[in-house]
Amino acid sequence: MFELVAHDLHTVMTQVRERTFALVAHLDEDRLNETTSPIMSPLSWDLGHMAAYEDLWLNHRVGGRELLREDLAALYDAFETPRAVRGDLEFLRGEPLREYMAEVRARALEAPVRDGGELHELVIRHELQHTETMLQAMVLAGIAPPSFTGPPAVDGSGLETVEIEEGPFELGSGSEGFAYDNERPRHTASTGRYTIGRTPVTNATWQAWADNGGYTERAFWSDAGWAWRTEQGIDSHPGGPRNAPVMHVTYFEAEAFARAHDARLPTEVEWEKAAPRLEGVGAVWEWTSSHFTGYPGFKAHPYREYSEVFFGDHYRVLRGGSCATHPRVASNQFRNWDLPERRQLFAGVRIAR
Ligand code: AVJ
Ligand code: FE
Repeated sequence: MFELVAHDLHTVMTQVRERTFALVAHLDEDRLNETTSPIMSPLSWDLGHMAAYEDLWLNHRVGGRELLREDLAALYDAFETPRAVRGDLEFLRGEPLREYMAEVRARALEAPVRDGGELHELVIRHELQHTETMLQAMVLAGIAPPSFTGPPAVDGSGLETVEIEEGPFELGSGSEGFAYDNERPRHTASTGRYTIGRTPVTNATWQAWADNGGYTERAFWSDAGWAWRTEQGIDSHPGGPRNAPVMHVTYFEAEAFARAHDARLPTEVEWEKAAPRLEGVGAVWEWTSSHFTGYPGFKAHPYREYSEVFFGDHYRVLRGGSCATHPRVASNQFRNWDLPERRQLFAGVRIAR
């Protein structure tokens, strides 16, 4: 399944880069370079970071070459340079940025393809993931590309459920082909009987809940959720097309919505087991109640900072993918994670009981 030859990989890399540039083609230089939010990067930073990642993994690690610009390594390292300070720095912009990206790419096309192209795939998916982050920043700033229309409508309110039988199934990704370290090892997991939403919850359903005191009824909310809601003064949701899945929902809101409907959020194990039976998967990310942790026997690969440093009880797992996620990234095994108060994600909710 995953034995891509260099020619195929290079075609994909070219197409992905064209897609990346197309997503920002409507913006001028100033827009690309400005910081629109302390929780997001300037779009130019993301572009430089994609190239630096490609230089590190394909040209340096696989190809054995020196970094093209050693002096940029710290600036484009997500950990050494967190989002809140990226806007103050001399990140590449304009022509020098385009030249750096092109020069890294020219070298990357000469890198050998090892292990079935595993690190090529890592680099391709990294760029695809960052374009979703860039779309979040653009939507947040009100400068989304005209092509971005949001998730498609679903046929259901989000309150209809399907029943899933108790018993074991195989969770995670097998040892063949590309998978992120956090999806492995594949192992038998088990659930009790449960029901889960046939579709994600729609804007119409969400609005009805909000109109019925959803944001003001303390009993629906967890302590942490109520504290967040009160501090931020959040008492409503921006809404959206009635029959489309609600998005820009935080974990805290998703949890409160579920509780108000005598339901809960699915665990990620329940989510993955049910995924082949569900409608609307891939329209919006779906919050699960699970913290982000390693599966039994987890081994960090190829670097700890992809997954392992995020393990613990800060982050919640999101599943499925959104209308902004490229299908190459989204699979029923893919695990996304974020902080429970994040609203910029293209994330919604599917209930369980
Ligand atoms: C998997 C989306 C949480 O954006 O922090 C990008 C993906 N990792 N660069 C993130 C990622 C390194 C990651 N998420
Ligand atoms: Fe990154």
